[in-house]
Amino acid sequence: MAKKNRISDRLSDSPMPNHIAIIMDGNGRWAQRRLLPRTMGHRAGMSSLKKVVRTCDELKVAYLTVFAFSTENWKRPETEVDYLMNLLVEFLHRELEELHHNDVQIHVLGDYGAIPQKCQIEISRALEMTRNNTGLIFNIALNYGARREIVESVKSITTRILRGELSPDDIDEQVLAQSLYTAGMPDPDLLIRTAGEMRISNFMLWQVAYAEIVVSDVLWPDFGPEELRRAIQEYQGRDRRFGGLRL
Ligand code: FPP
Repeated sequence: MAKKNRISDRLSDSPMPNHIAIIMDGNGRWAQRRLLPRTMGHRAGMSSLKKVVRTCDELKVAYLTVFAFSTENWKRPETEVDYLMNLLVEFLHRELEELHHNDVQIHVLGDYGAIPQKCQIEISRALEMTRNNTGLIFNIALNYGARREIVESVKSITTRILRGELSPDDIDEQVLAQSLYTAGMPDPDLLIRTAGEMRISNFMLWQVAYAEIVVSDVLWPDFGPEELRRAIQEYQGRDRRFGGLRL
């Protein structure tokens, strides 16, 4: 029998990232290379997402955040935007039972009040069904933009000051962090971006301050459990100093 030498076998000794954030990029290129419409790339991307959520759950990662739709993605053709929204509905419809069964707690980061109503209904159902689950926290960033998130945070802090609930001197990093969509959650330890792009693209600008960034050349629809393990292994080989000195 072939010797078992999977990357996963070498993961357990070093600390696992507690929170993994992923910019899922390359769906369009994946489709283009196969002479398929871009939408087919997104559909294939949905399968990758399914596998990656399952693997994070198996590896006991505590938080997974994925960038599903940005505030800038509205600039895409209407047909593509509609397809992505329908895909989200399909994803939640098909996966919710299993996610719930696996104790996954779903959150949406972003302004989902601005997306089509059928998506909002599906999202509300998913949030409601999984709210008391205690396993993997799965954040779907939807109609999400980090700058908008920070602006909203500043607005809510200002409102609290105007109501006399907070003094300007009380504002610190903690107060700001607690008014972001990720309030109460730890920052990502590992940020993965696929398809080789070296950009943050307005994703979790505040929260990734000390994240280790791993850029994979693999296009998102080809990104699976093995690539995820490879990224975690790369993370485990990094020397995290948070601005301090090596101990
Ligand atoms: C970037 O690829 C990807 C997106 C804008 C959408 C991500 C969506 C999925 C992975 C589909 C499944 C998600 C859910 C929540 C159902 P791109 O289109 O920018 O690729 P390109 O840069 O190669 O054109």
